[in-house]
Amino acid sequence: QLLAPQGQPLAGKRIVVTSGPTHEPIDPVRYIANRSSGKQGHAIASALAKLGAEVTLVSGPVTIPDPKGVSTVHVETAEEMKAAVLSQLPCDAAVMVAAVADWRVAGAADQKIKKQPGEAPAPLQLTENPDILKTVGHHAERPRFVVGFAAETQNVEANGRRKLEAKGADIIVANDVSPATGIMGGDRNRVKLISADGIAEWPDMTKEEVAERLACLIAEKLASSG
Ligand code: CTP
Ligand code: CA
Repeated sequence: QLLAPQGQPLAGKRIVVTSGPTHEPIDPVRYIANRSSGKQGHAIASALAKLGAEVTLVSGPVTIPDPKGVSTVHVETAEEMKAAVLSQLPCDAAVMVAAVADWRVAGAADQKIKKQPGEAPAPLQLTENPDILKTVGHHAERPRFVVGFAAETQNVEANGRRKLEAKGADIIVANDVSPATGIMGGDRNRVKLISADGIAEWPDMTKEEVAERLACLIAEKLASSG
C-alpha cells in the first residue's frame, strides 16, 4: 500500500461538510433562519483540505468567503442542503456543522405578503425539515465516520448523548451557544466531544484550532478503520 505523503494523511479521502444556516422562505422577500456565521464549518472544511482530503463544503447563506482548496456548493434551504449532501455519497466521512432550520413554512407564498396596517398576519404553518445528519447516519451508503454538532443552551452533555444515539453519529461535537458565551458569531469555541468512548472536554480555543484538532482526529479514525 502506498503511504500518504507527509502531512497529507487524508489524501485520497472524500469528505462532505455542511456549514452556515439554512434560509426557509416565507414569501419571496422574507425567511426564517437560525443564527450561524459559518465560521466553524468553513474552518473545518479548510482544515480537512489542508490534510489532503477532497472536500465538498455544502454551505447555506453566509457572508464569509469560500475556503481555499475546497469545492463549495451554495444552497439556501434544508431540502437543497440535503440533496447536495446525499449527492456526495458514498464518501469517507461527513461532518455536519450547519445550523439547519428545523422547520420550513408550509406553502410559502409566491408573492410578497402585504402588510395590512393594524392587523396581525395569518399565523405561519410550519412543517418539519428533513434531518440531514440523521439521514446520513442511517444511510445504506453511510460514510465510515460521521460527525455531528449539537448547539445547546442547557443540558449540553445529556442532549449531546441523545443526539449521538438518535442520529447515528460516531461523534457529537457539543457546545453551549447561550448568548453569554459569545460562541455564536464569535471567533472562539469551547466544545465537548461526545462518543461511545465517553466525553472529552476541549479547552477554549479559536474555531480554527477546533477545526485543526477535529481534522486530525478524523484522519486518525479513517486511518484506523481501514
Ligand atoms: N441537523 C441536520 N438537519 C436538521 C437538523 C439538524 O443535519 N434538520 C444536524 C446539525 O447540522 C447538527 C446536528 O444535526 O450536526 C444537531 O443539530 P441541532 O440543531 O443541535 O439538533 P436537533 O436535532 O435539530 O435538535 P434541537 O434543535 O431541538 O436541539
Ligand atoms: Ca435544530
